[in-house]
Amino acid sequence: MPDGPSSDDVTPELPFLRLVPDDVRGVRVAIERVLQRGIFELGPEMEAFEAEFAAAAGSTRGVSVGSGTDALALTLRGLGIGPGDEVITTPLTAAFTALAIVMTGAKPVFADIDGDRLTLSPSAVTDAITSKTAALIPVHLYGQAADMPALMEVATRHNLIVVEDCCQAHLATCGGQPVGTFGAAAAFSFYPTKNLGALGDGGAMCTNDDQLADRVAVLRDGGQTSRCMHTETGVNSRLDELQAAILRTRLPRLPQRTERRRAIAATYREDLAGAPVTIPPELDAGHVYHLFPVRSARRDALRAYLHDLGIGTLVHYPTPLPRQPAFSRFTPAECQVADAVCREVLSLPLYPELADESIDRVCDALKRFDPPSSS
Ligand SMILES: Cc1ncc(COP(=O)(O)O)c(C=O)c1O
Repeated sequence: MPDGPSSDDVTPELPFLRLVPDDVRGVRVAIERVLQRGIFELGPEMEAFEAEFAAAAGSTRGVSVGSGTDALALTLRGLGIGPGDEVITTPLTAAFTALAIVMTGAKPVFADIDGDRLTLSPSAVTDAITSKTAALIPVHLYGQAADMPALMEVATRHNLIVVEDCCQAHLATCGGQPVGTFGAAAAFSFYPTKNLGALGDGGAMCTNDDQLADRVAVLRDGGQTSRCMHTETGVNSRLDELQAAILRTRLPRLPQRTERRRAIAATYREDLAGAPVTIPPELDAGHVYHLFPVRSARRDALRAYLHDLGIGTLVHYPTPLPRQPAFSRFTPAECQVADAVCREVLSLPLYPELADESIDRVCDALKRFDPPSSS
């Protein structure tokens, strides 16, 4: 499960995340519309959502697929990335970023992160480039953009394709420019926990490249260019009409929900100023706060302490990808900054429905963690 509450959370009173929708009426209307129409795949809801989401993301084309992972993998395939190629990405991300690279037959190569931004370090990327490097996947982690101007400079210098992983960064910007519009294309996830979530899996790629969009649309539908004519070996990865209709209902509320996320983050930053944790800096006002991580050298004790007070937290992420068994057949990378972050990082509850009293409760608890002996 990518980002949901884990089974070791015995339903705390103040959960890490609450997914009960507050828009049940709108969701019912959307479902009813699809039921009445009787078209469940590759229909008008999907087409409308693709256009509406692409516009919201600042791109001219959107192609929906079954998940964010497929959006990445099919985009890479659409760009011609495959066996023999190396694709550089970050060790601090959901494993699905790197799994998408493996799905194409290419090899993931991990370059360390920047200790402030917690996203790919442009100088580490430069050091990881070989004659086989074909592409780069920056991940806009936790909702904050990677350092795109510097990464694009490296990519341009070395003739690398850039595919942005925007799965945690719907509507985020980097220096005012929408994430996902710097490279050749971007991948988004609509997994239920994401800032724009479906009631199941879903994803999309966005691009300004018509040829690429058309190719990914063919790949997601088995490689068919016309009915039962498969011109290449695609996959079955479609966003169904029900999910597309639900996402269409939710998309117009995303800006307002993003502002609520930003407001909660601002409160955390202010109220936790004296707390015994380090808060990663906000380096871009376009941060959309998919998650709110803090750092502590005593992370596990802090997590247990909050759990005992009924406050749910999660770790994003406990193990850097090069240290995951699934990736052990690829050259292990030294990613010391990511190693340290994975030991210290802890995500606090942050979702639009989080009540102000709950935010206060989290802050009060954190301020009282490990009180100095004089108190
Ligand atoms: C950064 C990142 N990339 C990729 C993915 C994969 O998205 P999905 O779960 O929709 O396949 C996720 C979600 O888990 C993610 O957070």
